[in-house]
Amino acid sequence: MVSLSSVIINDQHNPVGIQSVQQIGWKIHSDQRNVLQLGYHLQLASDKDFQDLLYDSGIVTSEESAHIDGSPLNENLVSAKKYFLRVRVDTTVGQTGWAYGAFATALLDPAEWKGKFITVEKEEDSAKSKGTCLRKEIRLRNPVRSAFAFTTALGLYQFYINGKKVGYDEFTPGWTSYNKHLLYQAYDVTSFLHPGHSTLGCMLGAGWYKGDIGFNRVRNYYGKYTAFSCHLAVEYEDGSQEIFCTDDTWEGADSPIVFSEIYDGEIYDARLEISGWNKNHCTSGNWIPVRTLPFNKKVLTAQAGAKVCRKDCIPAKEIFTTPQGDRVIDFGQNLTGWIEFIGQGHTGDRIELHCFEILDHQGNVYTDNLRTAKSAVTYICRDDEPFRFHENFSFQGFRYAKVVSWPGIPEKENFTAYTLHSDMEPTGQFECSIPEVNQLHHNVLWSMKGNFLDIPTDCPQRDERLGWTGDAQIFCRTAAYLMDCRTFFRKWLDDLVADQTEDGGVPHVVPDILIGNCAQDRLLKNGDHSASAWADVSVILPWTLYLMYGDTSVIRAQYQSMKSWIDYMHSHANGNIWNYRFQFGDWVALDAAEGSCLGATPNDLTCTAYYAYSTELFARMASVIGCEADSIKYMQLHNDIKKTYQETFFEDGHLTAQTQTAQILSLHFGLVPETYRQNVIEDLIRLLQKENGHLVTGFVGTPYFCFALSRNGHIKEAYELLLKEDFPSWLYQVKQGATTIWEHWDGIRPDGSMWSPDMNSFNHYAYGSIAEWLYCTVAGIDTSTEAPGFKKSVIAPHIGGGLKYVKSSYESVYGKIDSSWKTDGNTVTLDIQIPCNTSAQIRLINAAEVIADDGLSFQEVVSNTHIRTASAGSGTYRIIYKLQPDTD
Ligand code: BGC
Repeated sequence: MVSLSSVIINDQHNPVGIQSVQQIGWKIHSDQRNVLQLGYHLQLASDKDFQDLLYDSGIVTSEESAHIDGSPLNENLVSAKKYFLRVRVDTTVGQTGWAYGAFATALLDPAEWKGKFITVEKEEDSAKSKGTCLRKEIRLRNPVRSAFAFTTALGLYQFYINGKKVGYDEFTPGWTSYNKHLLYQAYDVTSFLHPGHSTLGCMLGAGWYKGDIGFNRVRNYYGKYTAFSCHLAVEYEDGSQEIFCTDDTWEGADSPIVFSEIYDGEIYDARLEISGWNKNHCTSGNWIPVRTLPFNKKVLTAQAGAKVCRKDCIPAKEIFTTPQGDRVIDFGQNLTGWIEFIGQGHTGDRIELHCFEILDHQGNVYTDNLRTAKSAVTYICRDDEPFRFHENFSFQGFRYAKVVSWPGIPEKENFTAYTLHSDMEPTGQFECSIPEVNQLHHNVLWSMKGNFLDIPTDCPQRDERLGWTGDAQIFCRTAAYLMDCRTFFRKWLDDLVADQTEDGGVPHVVPDILIGNCAQDRLLKNGDHSASAWADVSVILPWTLYLMYGDTSVIRAQYQSMKSWIDYMHSHANGNIWNYRFQFGDWVALDAAEGSCLGATPNDLTCTAYYAYSTELFARMASVIGCEADSIKYMQLHNDIKKTYQETFFEDGHLTAQTQTAQILSLHFGLVPETYRQNVIEDLIRLLQKENGHLVTGFVGTPYFCFALSRNGHIKEAYELLLKEDFPSWLYQVKQGATTIWEHWDGIRPDGSMWSPDMNSFNHYAYGSIAEWLYCTVAGIDTSTEAPGFKKSVIAPHIGGGLKYVKSSYESVYGKIDSSWKTDGNTVTLDIQIPCNTSAQIRLINAAEVIADDGLSFQEVVSNTHIRTASAGSGTYRIIYKLQPDTD
């Protein structure tokens, strides 16, 4: 039996609102082994019965199943219309039936956008963050065949038709570099509309656009007034068309949202609700005409996936009184999102909750680490009716909430938390025999959920919540193991390009709000963009996406950006040593001077190591897309940097910088001369022993620590590092009850004291990058770089650490890869699944003898007789082997 999954279009299932078909893919399923695709047949039609064919590929001989170029399909497309796709494939075990998919087009050319940007805010409102609502009654002259709404805003908006919210997404239009790149949302609203009157409505809030934003609290960063724009394209049953859009005939009023900002929360006064505001024939409210605002429609782009929406629902776990007498709700999980509360009050009764992450040592409310963020939710009751409320245009990072005010006695049944994050399919699963490691994996996943709210943020709670590039760089491969983040990161990379400086410099945060705004900042006044390991996200993220998904289009899209970042480093390098203006170095490493965030590893070493690494990756990517001249040029530059690195930072066969991070980076980036390799490995082990087996690394060294050990013959030490439970370590946090990853190893110290509240987040995914090692090494699921995207996997589990079993899988673009093992004494049973249309190289590490090969042919590796390898086609396999007697 062989079959297909549904067709995937532009990395999404049945997308609504695409400007072109870029790429098509599918997954092949079979219960047989060694299934390969031989060819495919793809059709596009305007009807679901495929009577009106617009494109027919015929039978194409090809093994490609994940990245079919969609451009031939674009010729006959028109705006605001639904299309149908189907595909069937020939494989080595027979032909599949048809698999189906559909998509709807957005406006193919932004010039078609007819909606004006309208606002009801006045001059004096630029200083306020209140909500407004807009409405317009329209008349549809006929029964509707199809209707698509394209909507966006300056600020945040919710769109309603006839009293119903359109779409399940929140925080639209997301956060982008608005004046250069503004997303619009597309909705199929056919079922919302009927002949006769209908009402279009919109609620607006300040959001990132004009609210206070950044730790320096810049207001009106993108503009002074919120505004909404809508283009509603209707096709009637009789084939005629009509467009309804925002213009100066709309009217507006203040909404019950008296205040709303990202950091400070929301105040909603239900007494100000205008009954039926978004329905026909509304007679209440002080509606006034809107005014239009100029806006460059050329920057409009249809949103492509990864919409922010409500995900997990978490009932309150308990409600208790602290020693200081505060009533506190505990949700049992640090998360990012909303608290929904239900209850009953009287007119004017006030409900006020203050969200926060942790209790202090005495068990009291601790909000100092929120800095200036108020994280407060206030609701004022309208009448004696039951209420149900959550914020609209603000979100909080919290585990707890203090009940400041509530009518009567709050019970835990009154409160439910909802997580909010960008919608991405979960792809990774990991479980092992050590519960603390499972909790660590859980914490990494929850820090990802908590910080992937439209952009990859550093933290979700304090007055920051910014798209710090370094954090994303460190974490992106882990993120790609955990969830399908293709559309999420592609959108963010568009903003990176939009905000890159003319000479190739890369902002510290994307979307950028720091360049030119840091004169008062203690550190950033010395350099408000282009820091090593942070700015390198411009190269490392495209490389990672290429590696994880095998998609070369990301290389093409980012090519100029990557190249100009390397050129920027080149133009500011001294010889081949790059260390320019302000650098974060090994940020928040524990070997820093007391109270400092800047780790002990010298900046010129860290920066030059990244300069070499990014240049090498760029040269490799240039070659992948056939830019050979660039590839040769930049590989030569890489070799020169490497040579200078070796001449500058080594003395007598050892690195001059004797820090853990210096050894790790040099090993992991391949910068150690072969003859000194053993020295550097031994130095790393010595530096580890000096700390009693603990890490003292920061953002730069930590992600690669276990790799540097396990790839250099020290799997035992790598496991010991992972499994350390005392301070500082990953499991120390777990033992302290963490449910997400902390920003600092010493966020809470063993004596109960805390790192300074000026920068102490308990939901910061950076150190969660250890999960990459869990997938790549412990489970052993990796891709070969020759056939990236897991077209060819490398399955190489490293047994050790006393783990009795590991169950792990990764849903690749070809299908599920499974690698699960269990040990019985020295015997390992390894269960593997390889998806159709791919192959794998299986490597048994420290294998003494293969007892059951399940039909595979294992060979000893000539250079290392403790490794047995076999090639495998798709299918499931159970391999049993004996470990070398000395394996720990
Ligand atoms: C952020 C970090 C970030 C750093 C760089 C912090 O405030 O939370 O994660 O990378 O600044 O300085």
